[in-house]
Amino acid sequence: MLFDTDTFEKMLATSWLGRSFFYFEELDSTSSHAKKMNRDQRLHGALIVADDQLKGRGQYDRSWKTEPACNLTFSLIFEPHDEGRIPILSLACALAATEVFEEAAGKKFQLKWPNDIYCDEKKVGGILTETLFNGNELHRIILGMGLNINQQNFGDELQGLATSLIKITGEKLSRESVLRSILMRIEYLYRLWVNQNVALIQSINKKLIGYGKWVDLEVNKEVLPEKYKFLGINENGALLVLNKDLEVDTFSYEQVRIHSDH
Ligand code: BTN
Repeated sequence: MLFDTDTFEKMLATSWLGRSFFYFEELDSTSSHAKKMNRDQRLHGALIVADDQLKGRGQYDRSWKTEPACNLTFSLIFEPHDEGRIPILSLACALAATEVFEEAAGKKFQLKWPNDIYCDEKKVGGILTETLFNGNELHRIILGMGLNINQQNFGDELQGLATSLIKITGEKLSRESVLRSILMRIEYLYRLWVNQNVALIQSINKKLIGYGKWVDLEVNKEVLPEKYKFLGINENGALLVLNKDLEVDTFSYEQVRIHSDH
């Protein structure tokens, strides 16, 4: 069944997020679309949803393919005044989804650096965060979320790596209602992000796979020989690790991947 825009709009209880709502039965990619939307118009909080993406994009230049009309594939536009700490905003949105999923499923979900959502060691969703600049000035953050909700089969390639809410709970969920809850939560966490709230960083860190553990680090595609203790993110969104000499090393966002035994 296609996404029910009427039901969704009626139930939406946010004050600004998703209030500009653009729905497409089919689109190349909600994030590519968001990039092309009128640059002269303020689109802060706009939501673009598609039931089918023909050229869905993932992190690291991968594609993002999901079964049409089963999952949630959407992008949010943010136009903040402050242009720093974007990795924290991505993780805050991932955190919002994990909180809603935990409530729906009664199970623990986790975040995997840089911004994936995992349950039972399988990926339930991912986020692609992109930025648009006017010269040197940040114009727009486009945050694309792909969340596996009602997809039952993932094909040979993804079997064992991906899962969905329906596979976890055994129940079909209303995508409209899941999206409504996620947007409510993102709207709340966005404010914490704007206010540089320390509790937000702590909540994110507690959910990160490998937090507080000795993990392997992959930097620019090479796994480093030593183990590092993963200290989570700091207030700037940089990744902190402790090396074996007990010095703190800092890495920037997508430069690093973390391998841990969960
Ligand atoms: C990842 O690689 O894990 C991130 C996947 C992000 C996919 C979403 S689906 C909605 C939005 N539009 C896209 O083309 N990609 C993002």
